[in-house]
Amino acid sequence: MDTLLDKLNWRYATKKFDNSKKVSSENLNTLLEAARLTASSYGLQPYHIYVIENTDIRTQLRKSSYDQPQITDASYIIVLANKPTFDSTMIDEYIANIMATRGLSKEDLEGFSQTMKSTLLDLPNAQKSSWTSNQAYIVLGNLMTVAAEMEIDTCPMEGFENAKYNEILGLNDKGLNAAVVLAVGYKSSEDETQNYPKVRYSKEQIITHI
Ligand SMILES: Cc1cc2nc3c(=O)[nH]c(=O)nc-3n(C[C@H](O)[C@H](O)[C@H](O)COP(=O)(O)O)c2cc1C
Repeated sequence: MDTLLDKLNWRYATKKFDNSKKVSSENLNTLLEAARLTASSYGLQPYHIYVIENTDIRTQLRKSSYDQPQITDASYIIVLANKPTFDSTMIDEYIANIMATRGLSKEDLEGFSQTMKSTLLDLPNAQKSSWTSNQAYIVLGNLMTVAAEMEIDTCPMEGFENAKYNEILGLNDKGLNAAVVLAVGYKSSEDETQNYPKVRYSKEQIITHI
C-alpha cells in the first residue's frame, strides 16, 4: 500500500473497532496537529476540538448516538464543535492572534477586521450556524485523510443527537455546538464492512471538465 490513493481506497467508515488496540498518544497528537493546521474561511477557525477518552462520558454519548458501538470501542472520539452564535469577540481574538504571530499592528489589520465583521456579524443565526459547521467539516475531511495516510481507522459520524451531546459535554455555556464526530482507532478483524467494495459514481458521472 504505497500511494495516497491506495490509502484512500483502504479507508472506510469503520463500524466495528477493536477496543483492545489503542492509537498511541504520539499518533493522536499528529492527528490533532493536522486538525489544528486545517484551512478555514478567513482563517477564523470557528470551532473547538474535543477529544473524548473518558469511559463514563462515552457510555453516555453512545446512548445519544443511536447506540452505535464506535462511540465506546474506538480509541478516541473527536467531537468537532462549531461556534453557532459567534459575535465580534471571535473576530477580535483572531485579529489579536494575527498581531502577535506576524508582528502587525491593530491599524494594519483594521480593514481585514472590518471586512470580516461586515460580512459575518449580521448573518441570521441559522446561517452563522451552518457556516461555522461547514468549517468544522473541513477539519473532519482533513482528519480522515491524515488518519488514512497513517493507517489509522476512523468513522465519521452524524448519527447522534447534538442537543444531548451539547448537554453532556457542557457546550451550550461555551457557545459551542457538536457539529460532527470522528471515531478514531483500529478496526476489528470481524468488521465485515472492510470487505465491501466502495460505492462511488464513476469519474464521468461526477466530474465535469470545462
Ligand atoms: C458526515 C458523515 C456522517 C456519517 N455518519 C455516520 C454514522 O453516524 N454512522 C456510521 O456508521 N457511518 C456514518 N458515516 C459513514 C458513511 O456512511 C460512509 O462514509 C459512506 O457510506 C461511504 O463509505 P466509506 O466511507 O466506507 O467509503 C458518515 C459519513 C459522513 C461523511
